[in-house]
Amino acid sequence: MLHRVDAIISDIRYGEYLRRNADYEKNRRFCRHDWQHMLDVARIAYMLALESGRRQGLSKEIIYAAGLLHDIGRWREYRSGEDHAAAGARLAGPLLDRAGFSGAEKEIITAAIREHRNGGRQASSLGRLICTADDLSRPCHRCPARGECYKADRMATAGLLLY
Ligand SMILES: [Fe+2]
Ligand SMILES: [Fe+2]
Repeated sequence: MLHRVDAIISDIRYGEYLRRNADYEKNRRFCRHDWQHMLDVARIAYMLALESGRRQGLSKEIIYAAGLLHDIGRWREYRSGEDHAAAGARLAGPLLDRAGFSGAEKEIITAAIREHRNGGRQASSLGRLICTADDLSRPCHRCPARGECYKADRMATAGLLLY
């Protein structure tokens, strides 16, 4: 059913970006930016959209594409210091083209990837959705690195929304 999402997942570049993230995160004690995280964010974003009853014209494919792609630029941040949201939006463009998303859909998805770090008022509805799903996806309550994580307090508050 989600053929274009399948196309992203099977794209050789997508696998390559996930591998690059994994290479840089081999010894990382904090949250990783791996396949499981991408899938968690896509699923939670879709659940939130369904739960709120406000899909705002966002299809399941668009929400999943944004979730699965939102951190593909993380390795660029490790490598050069470039903001991973901006890098991810740029890297996502050709993947979305190859998967068959239209120019307008690509705009919506890449904007959300670019905005996923803050998701404030100025962000698009998909950008805010991915940002919230990103926070909710982290299993901070049982995290052994929690004491040293600068995000732990914010995440613990966000995590409460899950229950
Ligand atoms: Fe991110
Ligand atoms: Fe993320």
